[in-house]
Amino acid sequence: MSTALTGTQGEDRSNYTREESKAIRQRSLRLLGSLVSPLKAQIVLAAIVLVVSTALQVAGPILISIGLDKALPQVLDHADWMPAFTIGFIYLFAGATAAALIGWYVVVAARITQAVLIDLRKRIFLHTQRLSLEFHETYTSGRIISRQTSDLDSIRELLDGGLNNLVSGVLFGAFTFIALIVWDWQSGVILAVAGIPLYLLMRWFYSRSQVVFRESRVISAKVIVQFVETMTGIRAVKAFRKEPRNDVTFQKVAGDYRDVNRRSMLLFGTFEPGLMAVAALTLGLVVLWGGIRVADGALTVGVLLSAVLYVRNFFAPMQEIAMFLNSYQSATAALEKVSGVLEEQPTVPDPEVPVDLWESRGHVRFEEVTFGYSGEKTILPNFSLDIAAGQTIALVGTTGAGKSTLAKLISRFYDPSLGRVTLDGVDLRSL
Ligand SMILES: Nc1ncnc2c1ncn2[C@@H]1O[C@H](COP(=O)(O)OP(=O)(O)OP(=O)(O)O)[C@@H](O)[C@H]1O
Ligand SMILES: [Mg+2]
Repeated sequence: MSTALTGTQGEDRSNYTREESKAIRQRSLRLLGSLVSPLKAQIVLAAIVLVVSTALQVAGPILISIGLDKALPQVLDHADWMPAFTIGFIYLFAGATAAALIGWYVVVAARITQAVLIDLRKRIFLHTQRLSLEFHETYTSGRIISRQTSDLDSIRELLDGGLNNLVSGVLFGAFTFIALIVWDWQSGVILAVAGIPLYLLMRWFYSRSQVVFRESRVISAKVIVQFVETMTGIRAVKAFRKEPRNDVTFQKVAGDYRDVNRRSMLLFGTFEPGLMAVAALTLGLVVLWGGIRVADGALTVGVLLSAVLYVRNFFAPMQEIAMFLNSYQSATAALEKVSGVLEEQPTVPDPEVPVDLWESRGHVRFEEVTFGYSGEKTILPNFSLDIAAGQTIALVGTTGAGKSTLAKLISRFYDPSLGRVTLDGVDLRSL
């Protein structure tokens, strides 16, 4: 554990230097890449299915406008139902195909996320189990449990909901905008201009929610810690009559938690009406300008209707995109922590070319062993001891002299810094 980048130390700090943050990001990306690369084919398939189904959905308003402008006059003027039936059929066909493809996409996407999650879950378990005792002595069980539970949960939330919503929402928005530009570019320009306040609103929401959500996570952790520590130490609490003091502390953190949640609700309470206002204003302008053009005969009613539908559809996924930002944040934090654990190397590695020793006689030797935990102070300086096979020995020493440490070295929970420990003449490191 040489640098702050390893999982045991790096994750609970918030003040990283720029190089450290960069290395942590790269570490997360490496993990993500290794998780995703076996699924490339499925991801490409999901992307194609999504693109086709979105394109079909976005075609809807254009078909409606053709129906109104071209097919309907045929019915009214010539009692010719053919064009109307054709358009109706195409509309139905596009809608049904889009629905079927979305169903398929949901299945493929679920398969991908579940494959990523089971891979990650297994990796965390197998890896932490393989890591040496030294790791487990510094990395508390509570933290390793969070890696396997809450961190995996936030990654699942991102993959399940957030990422899906983002990708399909952005794709839908982009296609809608393109269709609008193609079909009625003047309404497209109005929508593009509305993009400026929309962008500012989303950016404001993102930066504010980043602060509030981080605060909320910190405070909710404090509530849990306060509760767990009081209840696990309940004997000490009662013996020293600490109840009143604990009451005050708990009420304080619980109150802080309520306040931060209130602020986060307020944030949504500002963002949502803001979004609705931008959407309504844009729609109003499109209707106004479109109405003027219809009155002049420069625009048909069908095209105006499709423009209105497009503008309305464009704003529909915006709220989900904003929500994605929230799950994205906690998932990246989780990914950073998990990748830290996964890049941790066992300090007691398995030998490349192991020596087979199926039956041992039990001859243990310490040969000039020097050892200290994590290189701090030396516990055993240049220690030698020969224990013949079958011999029973007694170790006597003051507390902290290193008796248990000798037993740990024989079990190879640790390796000596200098010298070697052997069993029947074979170095434990090559067994
Ligand atoms: N995991 C650890 N990390 C760092 N230092 C440790 C660790 N385990 C033990 N030590 C330190 O190593 C020294 C030797 O500890 P050890 O447990 O071997 O002593 P001991 O002789 O078994 O003592 P006791 O008689 O109390 O059991 C002590 O100073 C102890 O604080
Ligand atoms: Mg001991």
